[in-house]
Amino acid sequence: MSSTPELEPPELTADDLLVLEDPAFTPDTVAIVTGAASGIGEALAVALAVNGLTVVGADIDETGLEETTATIKSFDPEGRFLSVPTDLTDDGDVEAMVDAAAEEGDLSFVANIAGMQHIESIAEFPVEQYDLLQSVMIRAPFLLSKYAMPHIEASGAGTGAIANMSSVHGHYATQDKAPYITAKHALNGLTKSIAAEGGGDVRGFSVSVGYVLTPLMADQIADTAASRGLSETEVVEDVMLGPARTKTMMTPAEVANLFVFGFSRHATHLNGGDLLFDGGYTTTYE
Ligand SMILES: NC(=O)c1ccc[n+]([C@@H]2O[C@H](COP(=O)([O-])OP(=O)(O)OC[C@H]3O[C@@H](n4cnc5c(N)ncnc54)[C@H](O)[C@@H]3O)[C@@H](O)[C@H]2O)c1
Repeated sequence: MSSTPELEPPELTADDLLVLEDPAFTPDTVAIVTGAASGIGEALAVALAVNGLTVVGADIDETGLEETTATIKSFDPEGRFLSVPTDLTDDGDVEAMVDAAAEEGDLSFVANIAGMQHIESIAEFPVEQYDLLQSVMIRAPFLLSKYAMPHIEASGAGTGAIANMSSVHGHYATQDKAPYITAKHALNGLTKSIAAEGGGDVRGFSVSVGYVLTPLMADQIADTAASRGLSETEVVEDVMLGPARTKTMMTPAEVANLFVFGFSRHATHLNGGDLLFDGGYTTTYE
């Protein structure tokens, strides 16, 4: 949690959300969103429900899922939200959650959003933390793809997409995040593999963004400030946004909107590719 009020995650409003006309965006179509209890996953669960889909929210945080349920209700959406508490490090949990989602209608979309961060140098990084991070951030997306692809292919239209939440750290490296950077680079490989095996019917794509104001990020700002001896404002302005040309952090809704577009009829050719929305962070220099 940040001690600087302007670095707290913003409130989500209907005005923030991209809403598209799409014949597949009905309550008969099911989308799984992992990490739906918080941050980007929560915003995406809201956005997809507002777009009319049935959303299955999977997260280990049951209290957070209840809050997401209440938030979605407050939007009075066209779609539905089903919360399925899931530990993504438990193979049985993941398989049961995917099967439960397929019972709700045509499972067509999966968004692998859940993640975590741990800031430490390679030499100091606890190996059990490395294993946990890989399990949630790359093994689980693979498992979800493994279990969901046959359901998507067997669904009404036999088409859909699996989307993976990557990062600027899926494109390059900074200090003290080696396991996170390793997982995000691996996700790019999984995304391309889904496209290769999906035959154009099951698309794979990823979304790479810079820094987004979520609870994960509020914690990271505080941790980075402590580990580098900086103020939280210095961490944001110099470390996080320093190399970017767009000098504001993204909101969870802005990220959620990229997935809405990526799942829509407008994104047929987004297959194996990445939506890099990083304010120029990785593509400009000096
Ligand atoms: N916030 C950013 O600046 C930023 C930038 C780029 C990419 N991302 C990525 O976006 C994703 C979401 O990040 P966020 O900032 O919204 O984080 P967040 O901490 O707000 O949400 C992460 C969610 O993952 C869930 N989770 C963790 N372990 C789990 C497990 N074992 N089983 C089920 N759920 C589990 C948590 O309970 C939490 O609800 C992550 O993959 C992150 O790497 C975030």
